[in-house]
Amino acid sequence: MHTTEQDPPSVRVVLAGATGDLGRRIAHALAARGAQVVALVRPGSNPQHLAGLRAEGIQIHAVSFDDAEDLRAAMTDAVCVVSALNGLEAVIIGLQGRLLDAAVAAGVPRFIPSDFSLDYTRTRVGDNRNLDLRRRFMAQLDQAPIAATSILNGGFIKLLEGDARLVGPGHRVMHFGDADQPLDFTAKDDVATFTAAAALDADAPRWLRIAGDSVSPAQIATCMRDITGHRYRTFRTGGIGTMSAIIAAVRALTPDTDAPFPAWQGMQYLRDMMSGRGKLQTLDNTRYGDRRWVSARDTLARCTLKAETP
Ligand SMILES: NC(=O)c1ccc[n+]([C@@H]2O[C@H](COP(=O)([O-])OP(=O)(O)OC[C@H]3O[C@@H](n4cnc5c(N)ncnc54)[C@H](OP(=O)(O)O)[C@@H]3O)[C@@H](O)[C@H]2O)c1
Repeated sequence: MHTTEQDPPSVRVVLAGATGDLGRRIAHALAARGAQVVALVRPGSNPQHLAGLRAEGIQIHAVSFDDAEDLRAAMTDAVCVVSALNGLEAVIIGLQGRLLDAAVAAGVPRFIPSDFSLDYTRTRVGDNRNLDLRRRFMAQLDQAPIAATSILNGGFIKLLEGDARLVGPGHRVMHFGDADQPLDFTAKDDVATFTAAAALDADAPRWLRIAGDSVSPAQIATCMRDITGHRYRTFRTGGIGTMSAIIAAVRALTPDTDAPFPAWQGMQYLRDMMSGRGKLQTLDNTRYGDRRWVSARDTLARCTLKAETP
């Protein structure tokens, strides 16, 4: 077990994407561990988000991500640069690439890219646009003279609250492929806490895989029955091939967008989960000690209660 309890409070971590959903949680988790956090933000970032970060003692460094020298200077003496940026090619390849170059120039020993995904080392090239971008950045990162750690966490567990549309009307749990295929889910706060520990871990390996829970559609149906008292059944919408045909049709009908998660991208993600290709094989959940991970049952119970509360 690698504990970071002894980290000196002066350890400095630079975080890009700190104004985002996951990034704010990582900033909070790093500050809770006594790290000195420097948030790199673009000019014009939401002032409310900045105020929230400042209130936690996080140092804000507004920077043009095109200014290599300013970026490098902001990273001086950092032990790790963490990216929680979100976007498409311009961000994941372009902006993260500039962040990486600056980290190398500043002599930062370690870099955590904005992966936070399924196991894209096992999925197929061309099947998932967002994972292809992460794979391309991986190639760039692995050439750079810096130690890298990617955190792979399956899907965010919030997907079970509705976005993945697994629990459908008529007491049915919808799925493609095999009803017994386990799907990995992790709560954002669990991902953030683990990422903060990894950022402060000088011996962190290249890959860290975590899952708060792994549940199949059949197990989700059982959870829903236990929670509601209604008999839930799995409903197989089709095989993985049918899912691919639907993704192609939805993508063809969707206008081009810069949004990182249009509906067809979400379906590509689900396909990599339901086919088992993106499944995490071995887990590092206990590397930073035992903790109670948010479970699928907790999440389904909470959102069921929320839906029933007037
Ligand atoms: N596994 C899953 O199910 C799952 C689900 C969702 C997300 N994720 C992953 O989690 C990571 C973080 O996602 P998130 O949902 O936290 O993203 P988010 O809330 O959209 O936050 C994105 C962050 O990136 C910054 N950013 C975006 N474009 C930028 C640009 N051009 N210049 C400077 N900053 C820019 C944003 O800054 P501003 O505040 O200034 O806009 C913000 O801080 C990503 O890798 C994402 O793919 C995984």
